[in-house]
Amino acid sequence: MNNAPGFDGILVEIEQIISTHRDNERDEILERICAALKDEVPHYNWVGFYLVDPDAERELVLGPYVGAPTDHTRISFGKGICGQAAATENTFIVQDVTLETNYLSCSPDVRSEIVIPILKEDVIVGELDIDSHALAPFTDQDQAFLNTVCARVAPLL
Ligand code: SME
Repeated sequence: MNNAPGFDGILVEIEQIISTHRDNERDEILERICAALKDEVPHYNWVGFYLVDPDAERELVLGPYVGAPTDHTRISFGKGICGQAAATENTFIVQDVTLETNYLSCSPDVRSEIVIPILKEDVIVGELDIDSHALAPFTDQDQAFLNTVCARVAPLL
């Protein structure tokens, strides 16, 4: 991938993490991917997966994550940035969260957020959520990189 320095190396690391996958280790794999992303990319300050709860009506449940604990452990489709991404199945990039009215704040330190839906056989199964303490840090390169990460994660969900 022709993109920012570091992304190619992180993808190699993620491939290695996934290659160790066994069914009963899914959450550990997801948490290690979160940790790799947070540790390697300075503007990724909270990295987590929300999963579509198969036992609830259009609701996300917090999955593995790395970063500060959040009160938002369940999010209805349509609520906040995560819920909007789930409802529309579109990536949401909010470069300044103070300008987003449909937003669920986890921490006053967060200034921007990107949420990438994860689809499996055209059905949304979860999403990758990244908060940043930087203002407007997310580029097309981040989006392309994170799309690749989500495509690799989809078979695990
Ligand atoms: N800010 C998100 C909620 C999840 S936290 O960022 C971990 C939102 O508006 O949906």
